[in-house]
Amino acid sequence: MEKLKFINKYADKFVSEKDIADMSPRAVEAMRTLHAGNGEGNDFLGWVTLPSDYDKEEFARIKKASSYIQKNCDILIVIGIGGSYLGARAVIEALKSPNYNALAKNTPQIYFIGNTISPSMVTELVSLCEEKDICINVISKSGTTTEPAVAFRVFRDLIYKKYSADEAAKRIFCTTDKARGTLKELADEQGYETFVVPDDVGGRYSVLTAVGLLPIAVAGIDIDALMNGAAFAQNSLNSEDINENDCLKYAAIRNCLYESGKRLECFISYEPCMTMFNEWLKQLFAESEGKDGKGLYPVSCVFSTDLHSVGQFIQESGSSLMFETCIKFNKPLDDFTITEQDGNIDGLNFLAGKTMSFVNEKARQGTLLAHTEGGVPNFILESDAITAENLGYMIYFFEKVCAVSGYILGVNPFNQPGVESYKKNMFALLGKPGYENEKEKLEKELGI
Ligand code: PA5
Repeated sequence: MEKLKFINKYADKFVSEKDIADMSPRAVEAMRTLHAGNGEGNDFLGWVTLPSDYDKEEFARIKKASSYIQKNCDILIVIGIGGSYLGARAVIEALKSPNYNALAKNTPQIYFIGNTISPSMVTELVSLCEEKDICINVISKSGTTTEPAVAFRVFRDLIYKKYSADEAAKRIFCTTDKARGTLKELADEQGYETFVVPDDVGGRYSVLTAVGLLPIAVAGIDIDALMNGAAFAQNSLNSEDINENDCLKYAAIRNCLYESGKRLECFISYEPCMTMFNEWLKQLFAESEGKDGKGLYPVSCVFSTDLHSVGQFIQESGSSLMFETCIKFNKPLDDFTITEQDGNIDGLNFLAGKTMSFVNEKARQGTLLAHTEGGVPNFILESDAITAENLGYMIYFFEKVCAVSGYILGVNPFNQPGVESYKKNMFALLGKPGYENEKEKLEKELGI
């Protein structure tokens, strides 16, 4: 079967074939703009050809570094925020488990930090490192982002306390710009091994560079398979016939729904291991499309868990606001069969002999019908199984859908100017040199 199949048949009454056909020329035009590289943000298109055109020498170094880390540490600390950690965490949790760190395995524990300024989280992780061998992979394209920079200061101190300066330097791996930024300067000065975030690949499109690949490889995941899946997507998703190209169709339909008044897309999974993949999707779409007063707000749910929290809202109040896109896997990573019990005291013998995945699938089908009945359009992205190759395909698929969708919407899908506002205020309030004039004004506004 196809690696990922877009199914829109359950939403016919919300988006007709005619609606899709009407949107089709705009989707084709958007994809042409992307391929020609003549749209807004065209200096950030490196991800488009990345799966076939990546630095093979660096790829080999990533594998070598991952073996070193696997052999020499109990814990890998991955420091990064936004696009500098979400992709790696998404792939590791999807393919290994959200409980990866608790599982018996021959690969190191992997903890993500530098994605929060919470003192408790940092302190807790420092204590988890007691009497453990550690390595650090600090990831920041700009090399100046506050959250990872502060965390790196803490864990660099820790690693220099644990080891000699020479040994500590061998245990720190920096993924950053090839020439610029504080992190690059520091790495060069201290002799840390560095990996590159290519100039033309933005953070949220960077999971298939060293940004994602090094932590993913440390977790024991086959990064060749991941890249092969992405390369397959790169070669498959180019047709200008909307019925031959699911990427184009999905991008068109999202925009049909946006123009018909929907404001929210909910990514659904029935596998908790996809929770972080949903987080990656949310960042990809929110930072790419949410600007100039436009965009679908991406949210996510894991069902059936969240049917017992937000299910009520979706069923009875979701119709004017949202649609759902479910990533469905035909096979889970693991399965079991429900047993027959004497006496049937819990009344569940009607399920005896059925697999848990069968029950999960019936929950999915029941929810699909209920939510559609409640007026919420539902789409399915169907994949055979959770494999590295399929995830590689899926990553590229969503990146391309997002870029094409953004161009249809009329925004630059590769910048994130709005992220700067909070940073400016935070720097001023912290008293960072250069922001002195703002501080007093902001404190007055806050009444502090
Ligand atoms: O997608 C993006 O560009 C952002 O989410 C960045 O990844 C995030 O802000 C972290 O930036 P940096 O890698 O420069 O520390």
